[in-house]
Amino acid sequence: MLAVTSFLSPSINWSRLNLWIVLGAFLVAPTGLSFAAETDTMQKGEAAFGQCAGCHTIEEGGPHLTGPNLHAVFGRDIANAPGFTYSDQLLAMQGVWDQNRLNRYIARPKLAVPGNKMPYLGLTSPHMRSDLIQWLESNPAKLSPARANTSIMNGARLATACAACHSFGKGEANSIGPNLWGVVGRLIASVDTFDYSERLMRRSGTWTTTALDEFFAESKEFEQGSHMAFRRLMHVENRQGIITWLSTLSDEKEALGNKMTTTAK
Ligand code: HEC
Ligand code: HEC
Repeated sequence: MLAVTSFLSPSINWSRLNLWIVLGAFLVAPTGLSFAAETDTMQKGEAAFGQCAGCHTIEEGGPHLTGPNLHAVFGRDIANAPGFTYSDQLLAMQGVWDQNRLNRYIARPKLAVPGNKMPYLGLTSPHMRSDLIQWLESNPAKLSPARANTSIMNGARLATACAACHSFGKGEANSIGPNLWGVVGRLIASVDTFDYSERLMRRSGTWTTTALDEFFAESKEFEQGSHMAFRRLMHVENRQGIITWLSTLSDEKEALGNKMTTTAK
């Protein structure tokens, strides 16, 4: 305090000023470093979430995919995302997802909660788990645009194979398969100008992201109707990419959807 007062006094002591500048540099340098380390952890954590993003969304109100939406999961009650059907084993667990529980579950889901239905082998690297959990703890609002775009662009790329049989644009004619504009959230087999197979007609409900994920994953041969084998859709990340991309084909996201449609053709 004494030093500060004399520093602020009108008669500037230059040697003391130099000392302050040097001290200041010392004070700033470590903070700058730890800030860089922090963003590094966040980036690595988000990158590690790439292993989860095929099954989990992170944004508030995001859809359940194969796994529940994970918004604000750190500190959240276990098995408590509304609208998701959990296994009895996860439902039987008491408490919240804290550091310790997340760490054990993510490392070895099958060992940590025997009988739970998360089809994931585990993230074995302790460093990656630590970064990922810190990222989850920071309560991310969404994936950074660059990362989210990677998923959509991957979907758009994969969708070029669908374009052989499907049109994607609003109001476009059916092809070998029905037009897919607005398919996410649409009733199954509901394009009235398209002649569906009985098999698809018998399926009831809406094409939610979960229903689409199951549809694309359910058969090794992917042989619903006249669908051909889509090996690449056996990978959850690819299914997630396609579904994220399909969900851009809607009135609300029209501008983006049209842009993506052009990319897919
Ligand atoms: C192949 C799909 C899949 C992958 C990949 C996956 N999960 Fe899951 N996850 C699930 C399913 C399904 C459940 C529900 C498990 C149950 O009900 O038994 C789940 C449940 C969870 C839960 C419990 C959520 C709650 O509301 O209680 C957490 C936490 C979680 N996963 C984290 C992760 C993390 C982190 C990763 C990546 C390191 C990951 N998961 C990768 C499918 C997946
Ligand atoms: C070889 C042609 C062909 C290809 C390629 C193809 N589809 Fe299809 N798709 C069809 C046909 C035909 C139907 C109608 C199936 C029926 O009636 O059983 C269909 C139906 C669908 C449906 C249900 C639509 C509704 O209105 O209920 C979705 C969703 C779908 N396809 C998505 C895709 C995606 C995504 C791809 C690319 C990964 C793809 N399809 C590739 C021919 C194809």
